[in-house]
Amino acid sequence: MSTVRLPDFPWDALAPARARAAEHPDGVVDLSIGTPVDPTPPLLGDALAAAGDAPGYPTALGTADVRRAAAGWLSRRLGVQLADPFGADPSVIPTVGSKELVALLPTLLGLQGSGTVVLPEVAYPTYEVGAVVAGLQVLRTDTPPAHPGDAVLVWLNSPGNPHGRVLTDDELRAWVAWGRAHGVPVVADECYIELGWDVVPRSVLHPDVAGADHTGLLAVHSLSKQSTAAGYRAGLLSGDPALVRRAWEVRRHLGLLVPTPVQAAMAAALADDAHVAVQRERYRRRRDRLAAAVRASGARVDHSEAGLYLWVSRDEDCWTTIDWLAGRGIVAAPGSFYGPAGSRHVRMALTATDERIDAAVERLMKDPPAPRRSQAHGGPLQGGR
Ligand SMILES: Cc1ncc(COP(=O)(O)O)c(C=O)c1O
Repeated sequence: MSTVRLPDFPWDALAPARARAAEHPDGVVDLSIGTPVDPTPPLLGDALAAAGDAPGYPTALGTADVRRAAAGWLSRRLGVQLADPFGADPSVIPTVGSKELVALLPTLLGLQGSGTVVLPEVAYPTYEVGAVVAGLQVLRTDTPPAHPGDAVLVWLNSPGNPHGRVLTDDELRAWVAWGRAHGVPVVADECYIELGWDVVPRSVLHPDVAGADHTGLLAVHSLSKQSTAAGYRAGLLSGDPALVRRAWEVRRHLGLLVPTPVQAAMAAALADDAHVAVQRERYRRRRDRLAAAVRASGARVDHSEAGLYLWVSRDEDCWTTIDWLAGRGIVAAPGSFYGPAGSRHVRMALTATDERIDAAVERLMKDPPAPRRSQAHGGPLQGGR
């Protein structure tokens, strides 16, 4: 029997930095994993409780309410017009959070065996996990390859984890054209799309990108961050009805069902923009404070124009920066977790309480180190945003 070789689960490697940071007299500020900490808005809990009488099995297709609310949110917030969500081939289905979908999509689409999954140069590790589980290779690139080779799937992630980079319309269009020219589905993970700071992130399904229909395209969304509901496990897959259908049919067999009360909470959340706006402003304030302090400390913030993280560099190996932060009682994620090209950055999450963000700010501002050598050449004190 052959065993699947999964990438290392890297978080354990942070234990020494975490232990060092925990020695800080005012306690650790953990900005590494990025799990939401603010209360889930009551409208989700209320809808969940009201749907608590759920003796029957849910369907993999999702309730009419959740599909209608999802199509409404996509239209209202992202300018995306789905094909009929109630058609024989569905244009949207709920998922058990988006991580399982990301990890299973190559398998659900029947791509297992041989071929290559194209993913961003610096990327959320689960794209690679999903390729490995399906017995596929990976190619990391931020631009469409000159030759398709044996590509079977493209993952885009905008706004991106870990760096908060947002793909421009031209970049999105280039990938869509490439995928369609070579018959390779293009899937955009847009789980941070409600969290744009300096730009308004665009969906791959927007008509300016996709054109008149969604052939060959899928988008992945999540309520974890925008609705502070990671514990609910609530996500969406939408786009090309033929592709959604393929995923849906396998999901029925696998029993990948979103619990009925969670579907009710999803429908309520997707119909309400106010709670998302409140959370967005909370994150914006944290981001502004933390980014200013990071820069004042002599480090640089790259990209980070959207999403839940600051992508920080001191122009040194990421583990040196991790150690430097740990000395101030702060834990971040080393950029190398996200691919070799991330090895000179660390990722700092905005998902800590205001009190902990303030503690990080104070520690970073204290004793700002003397300006570092490369200043005159666009070094750490320049070029940050
Ligand atoms: C890029 C990206 N995609 C997907 C996920 C999975 O999120 P969830 O399963 O909570 O929807 C995450 C989680 O952090 C992520 O960063």
